[in-house]
Parts: sequence; structure tokens; C-alpha cells
Amino acid sequence: MQGAKVSSSMVLRSLHERKALPVFPAVILKLDEVLAQDNVNVDQVVTIVAADMLIASRIMRAACSVRYGMKPPKDLLDAVSRLGFAEVRAVAFAVSYTAGFMKPTHINVSVFWRHAFASAVAARELAGWFLRVKQQRVCDAPTAFLMGLSHEVGVLLLDLFSPNEFAQVLASVANEEQSMMEQKILGTTHAIIGAALLKQWGFADYMAMAVAAHHFPARLQPELQPLADVVLFAEYIAVTLGFGNGVYDAPSAAMHDLVLSRGEAYGISGAILTDLSADVADGLQAEGWLELADSVQ
Ligand SMILES: [Fe+2]
Ligand SMILES: [Fe+2]
Repeated sequence: MQGAKVSSSMVLRSLHERKALPVFPAVILKLDEVLAQDNVNVDQVVTIVAADMLIASRIMRAACSVRYGMKPPKDLLDAVSRLGFAEVRAVAFAVSYTAGFMKPTHINVSVFWRHAFASAVAARELAGWFLRVKQQRVCDAPTAFLMGLSHEVGVLLLDLFSPNEFAQVLASVANEEQSMMEQKILGTTHAIIGAALLKQWGFADYMAMAVAAHHFPARLQPELQPLADVVLFAEYIAVTLGFGNGVYDAPSAAMHDLVLSRGEAYGISGAILTDLSADVADGLQAEGWLELADSVQ
């Protein structure tokens, strides 16, 4: 069967009308207001994150991760100073974003969120690799983390939008590419719908475009491709570590080939991806993101 083409604004509107569209986290709106000031007042930032116990404890935990010297922070102010505002925002976003979704019909939430956090850590490691090895700044670490975290949001949205048709996608992915089946059955893809939500949430254009093209980076203008490639490689690393996205469990032959051919242009071989995967597995464990993924209801 062939689904008629569906516009992303129609999907988002329909979800909104059914009260199934996640709203942009209120705590991030508050944070952004404070962070937009010329001289950011760190006490105001601390007050906002302190009001949410889960966010505060995640920030404390992130501040004693291996990237920050393993020493427990003295207090929340110390933790916020260590992390910097962009990373504090990313952690607060991660916590509030995971809590903002209605329960999907078919997708297993903990599988989905494990994939999201594995991809987030992978994207961060990949951005670090580009900087270290290629002296290329694809994006900063918190942005990479957010990209990995949110790249697959369209999967949840499509499952909420049209559960019956999404079940058909799930039933056919063993033989066909996810994006291709989504296009055939639903008339759009998780990447397009996810990008539309992020755009509506005020993510920068280049970020939304990287999400839209994360299975087809070559479709973007050359300067936008590296970030889409980072997302693609991050998704691949997550899946090869055993964190499938809830739709498929192992990279298809086509995805494997795409990753290797895109990697060639940057000098990212299969062996480098394997090395990075080991760092991702360590970071994921040490920073406790899987526990957060498993706590989502
Ligand atoms: Fe994807
Ligand atoms: Fe993914």
C-alpha cells in the first residue's frame, strides 16, 4: 500500500489537537530567559535547576563524571560552574524532555530512550574526535549531545500520530529500510517529523536540518553535512552497542554501507568507530544515562 504524502505541519497539528504533542520544557524556557541576558547571573541559573530535584541531582552527577575530574562538587553552584551553562542546559533539557511524552503505542519507551542517550553520548564523542583528530569544530559538546538525544523524536511522534500504520512499519523493517517504509506507509519519515518539532521548539536551522537528513547526509549543502554525519554515525554506534531505536535492532546492510562510505570522506574507518564505541559505552555507564532512560514511564 502507498500512503499519501503527509506534511509535517499536518502531523504536528493533529498531535497538538489530540493533546499528544510534547510541549517545550517549561524549565528550559525559564533557563533560556536567564541565559539570554548580557551578564548571566549564575545564582539565577542555580535557583532554576535547584527547583527540580531530578535535574539538580543529574547536574551534580554530571559534574563528578570523568570529564570533570571525578571529584564530587561541593554544591550545586560548584557543579553548575564546572559544567558551564551550555552543558547545564543540555542536562536540564535531557531530564525534562524525556518526561514530556505521552506513552507511545508500540515503541518500548526504555529501549527508545536508551537509544537516544547512547546516541547523545556517541554524538558528543564524535564531535570530540573531529576536534581532536581533524581540528574540525562540527559543533560544541552540549549541542552534539542534544542532537543525538533528539534525532529520533519523530519515531515517537509517528507512533502517536498513526499507531496502526506505524505497526505496519514495524512489521516490515526486518526486510526494508525504516525510512523507506515510513515514506511508503505513512507518507513521511521520522527524520522529517522530528526535524519539524525541533524547528517549532526553536532549535537552530542547521540542527533541524541535520536531524532531517540524518539518514541521507549527502542531500544537504556541503557545509551542513558534517553534523548530519555525526548524527548518522552516532545512531550507528548506538545500534551496534545493542541500543536499537525501538524500530530496528541491528544496522541494515544499506546503513552499514552508508556509514562506511560517509566515514571514508573524514577518515573514520570501522576500526575508529569501534574505538569510539568503547568510549561511548564507558561514558554511558559512568554518567548514568541508562538509569535515566529506564526511569521514563
Ligand atoms: Fe533515525
Ligand atoms: Fe537513531
